[in-house]
Amino acid sequence: MTSDRPGPPPGCPAHASRTPLYGPAFTADASSVYAELRRHGAIAPVEIAPGTPAMLVIGYHTALEVLRDPATFPRDPRRWQERVPADCPVLPMMGYRPNALFTDGAAHARVRGATTDALARIELNDLRSYVEDTADMLIDRFGASGKADLISEYARILPLMVFNLLFGCPPDLGDRLVEGMSGIFELVEPEKANELLTRTLFELVALKRARPGPDMTSWLMEHPAELTDEEMVHQLVTLQGGGTEPEMNLIGNGVRLLLSDDRFASDLSGGSLPIEDAIDEILWTDPPIANYATSYPRSDLNVAGARLPEGEPVVISFTGANTDPSLSFERTGNRAHLAWGAGPHACPAQMQARLIASVAIEKLLDRLPDMRLAVPADQLTWRPGFFHRGLTALPVEFEPLPAQATAAEEPRDPAPPPPAPRPAETSRPSRGRSQRRRSTLMGWWRGQ
Ligand code: HEM
Repeated sequence: MTSDRPGPPPGCPAHASRTPLYGPAFTADASSVYAELRRHGAIAPVEIAPGTPAMLVIGYHTALEVLRDPATFPRDPRRWQERVPADCPVLPMMGYRPNALFTDGAAHARVRGATTDALARIELNDLRSYVEDTADMLIDRFGASGKADLISEYARILPLMVFNLLFGCPPDLGDRLVEGMSGIFELVEPEKANELLTRTLFELVALKRARPGPDMTSWLMEHPAELTDEEMVHQLVTLQGGGTEPEMNLIGNGVRLLLSDDRFASDLSGGSLPIEDAIDEILWTDPPIANYATSYPRSDLNVAGARLPEGEPVVISFTGANTDPSLSFERTGNRAHLAWGAGPHACPAQMQARLIASVAIEKLLDRLPDMRLAVPADQLTWRPGFFHRGLTALPVEFEPLPAQATAAEEPRDPAPPPPAPRPAETSRPSRGRSQRRRSTLMGWWRGQ
């Protein structure tokens, strides 16, 4: 292994002190913590929960080498799990599940294959329409008020609604999935949240076994990999959690950047929307998944000047690696960031994820062209938890939309069954289909 920067020799007392990646200081100012950790070199000793040590990879090249070497850095956490208390708050995110994230080799190829094949069946034009319709509906809801919290009223809800459509998930199950997923990321009663999430996903799997449809859940089930119910549930956790939570953060962090940075302000008022530039910048500086991709060395290792103990979590800091000051290449116009991971576990849904975020942001700027932050950018706060990087709230103001453009005008009749992606379709949907979908979304929102 090569080293980004020389770290202290193995056994150095500097490695004895462990920096916590939890608590108010980390939440308030994570970037100072990453900066401070660099005194250790490319890998730093941290605590990911009280009494739970880990090694955090903050050097870009070292992160890449670890991610690309599953033989040396296997993903199965089960030996480590036996050594931590059952109520350790990071277990719901890091504990073993028989899905792509926690497996290697042939077992990984089998579940990942089912996922990539199912993802390939999503028609991108349909996905775009889902996002546009959902965005319009949400903007209609708050438009007439002239103000909104874009996290709770938009960025949090939009990916969930889109995912419920993609996965053929009925509204009542959707609500419970949201609750469970939020809890495990924010480490708020994570065990209870995990239990709710798992129970709800088993219900979804049972529903789709009985009544399959043209949706991701059914496509995963009918794949030749023949996933069991348990594997289905754990794969759905990765897809839903790995999808909706970071989407919320990418939308929120992207809008924050566009509204707070003078470099974008002139383009916004001039009508050209540099959304893709803002998304690229966020993926470098504030990646929605900040620290994850954990592996567990089978024996003690010396890597980049650090000693990695057998079985202790090696966590990749996507934020730390992306902001590594020793990187010599230009970041602007360069997509070599690690926000999607790298190696065999790299995010298989990059194209879909990017499309959801850029269409969601585009719609906001298109419908609310004079939108501005309602508080100074430096007063915005971050949600607790080191796995993700997302705002607690994003209050904005804008010229109120005319009342007739709001959701009050939407049809109040009961919604038809949720539409689903159509694999064979390539054209944009007709107005009729789009209208029908909007009614469905309204129905979903009203709990019909
Ligand atoms: C902004 C949005 C997203 C970001 C930043 C993101 C980021 C990532 C990262 C960093 C990984 C690698 C994790 C690791 O190495 O352990 C990953 C894996 C994964 N992502 Fe995404 N993701 C996003 C959206 C999505 C969406 C929308 C889906 C599904 C529809 C998805 C499905 C997955 C799956 C299944 C894996 C595991 C792949 C494997 O282990 O082989 N992600 N994602």
